[in-house]
Amino acid sequence: MIQKVVCCATPPVATPTSVPPQRTTSLPVRTIPGGYGWPVVGPLGDRLSYFWFEGPATYFKKRIEEHKSTVFRTNMPPTFPFFTGVNPNVIAVLDCKSFAHMFDMELVEKKNILIGDFMPSTGFTGDMRVCAYLDTSEPKHTQVKKFAMEILKRSSKIWVPTVTSNLDTMWDSIEAGISESGSVTPLAQLQQFIFNFLTICLIGADPAKSPEVAEKGYMWLDAWLALQVLPITNIPTLQPLVEIFLHSFAYPSFLVSGGYNKLVEFVEKEGQEVLELAQTEFGLSKAEALHNLIFILGFNAFGGFSVFLPSIFSALGNDTTGLQQKLRNEVKEKIGTNSLSFDSVRQLDLVNSFVYETLRLNPPVALQYARARKDFTLSSHDSAFEIKKGELLCGYQPQVMRDEKVFDEPEKFVADRFTKEKGSELLSYLFWSNGPQTGSPSESNKQCAAKDYVTLTSSIIVAHMFQRYESVKIDSSGAISDYEAAK
Ligand code: HEM
Repeated sequence: MIQKVVCCATPPVATPTSVPPQRTTSLPVRTIPGGYGWPVVGPLGDRLSYFWFEGPATYFKKRIEEHKSTVFRTNMPPTFPFFTGVNPNVIAVLDCKSFAHMFDMELVEKKNILIGDFMPSTGFTGDMRVCAYLDTSEPKHTQVKKFAMEILKRSSKIWVPTVTSNLDTMWDSIEAGISESGSVTPLAQLQQFIFNFLTICLIGADPAKSPEVAEKGYMWLDAWLALQVLPITNIPTLQPLVEIFLHSFAYPSFLVSGGYNKLVEFVEKEGQEVLELAQTEFGLSKAEALHNLIFILGFNAFGGFSVFLPSIFSALGNDTTGLQQKLRNEVKEKIGTNSLSFDSVRQLDLVNSFVYETLRLNPPVALQYARARKDFTLSSHDSAFEIKKGELLCGYQPQVMRDEKVFDEPEKFVADRFTKEKGSELLSYLFWSNGPQTGSPSESNKQCAAKDYVTLTSSIIVAHMFQRYESVKIDSSGAISDYEAAK
């Protein structure tokens, strides 16, 4: 039995502590295995393996086995022919210990590498570099990150009632869909819900004020998001057409500027108070406030929840252990029909653990990057490696979150994995937010500003579901075909 790597006992979402990697090590120093191949041909071959012949999960797993190491050199898309300024060479870090070096801002920098060495045109974001592309050494990062955390704090009073009233609207629409056509794959309803509650909470503006924004706002964001991340997005169908037409060049931002500009107009008109706050309290210009707000709303928040919430439904659909009943019992016992609040859902150990386990096995942002700020020694569980200043580290979270030295039966969905003392210790190794779940987002790091809002909101969504229903019939794709209302 492998010795599990766990440290300090920390209750969920309480005393924040992070897990900085150890700076000194007694592990044997090993040359980083792997390589980049011949110029052009090596990166192109790796790109085809990654997207087409193997798929991302196998791509990383196969190379771990081949090199007998969770740290190795390889290439990441996008590459040849029209990404000439992009360097595909990375050092993959694929276990919890090596991955955690990417959170140490003394060792790494995060300038312009949100999705790798490739950065989408700033034409998508009002011709400026927004928060997620700024390194912690840039003063603008401090201003925007503090602003983002302030709007979360200010909205905390309306957050839960806004989420629950929009959830009622969402479930009404799903129920209507079921009675009309027998089964609903609720992606559109989910996205409408996500867009509405986030716009109200983060921008302070109700989309209902503009019928066009209310109807199409989430679709404009979908198109705007998709075009930015297309060169690095795995589309497991229609090859080789995808490689030729979707992964060989970047599409220009003007294709989606119509919807984006309408959102700009809407935020300018309806979000005046928040824009004012950004300028007076955080020293941002109006344009910086506007485009950062839309990026936070659209890319960080709407994008993140749109990927994550369907995983919650699929996890319930895949379950064969009576999980819905157990979740329902916990909600019934601890909250009953009382109104939900951040404090009340904090007591729901199983619900929270279920959310954490879903994030572990389906981390919504699968790839994370960081560039060495200086030469340093990086450790995996069994070896140390010399990293040179400027080299790009790349972590693939779905692999890292299956680290067998940290998680027992790593491939298995264990809904109560994060309960009790041992479970709360494991939170130090839950990295979906670009930092440990026991860490604290701040202007000095690049951890998701909404780390706790995301998990608590997801727990509220689950708790609300089991206040409203005894059970919901969901299949493994997340489609809903029946429900039994709460008694
Ligand atoms: C399920 C939903 C969400 C997921 C999965 C998610 C995930 C992440 C991740 C992985 C990062 C780090 C990216 C990197 O640098 O590699 C990040 C950063 C960030 N997130 Fe979230 N996020 C979510 C929701 C939100 C929400 C609701 C907000 C609203 C304020 C938000 C605000 C931010 C900001 C401002 C950053 C940039 C942090 C910085 O530059 O220091 N996120 N998010």
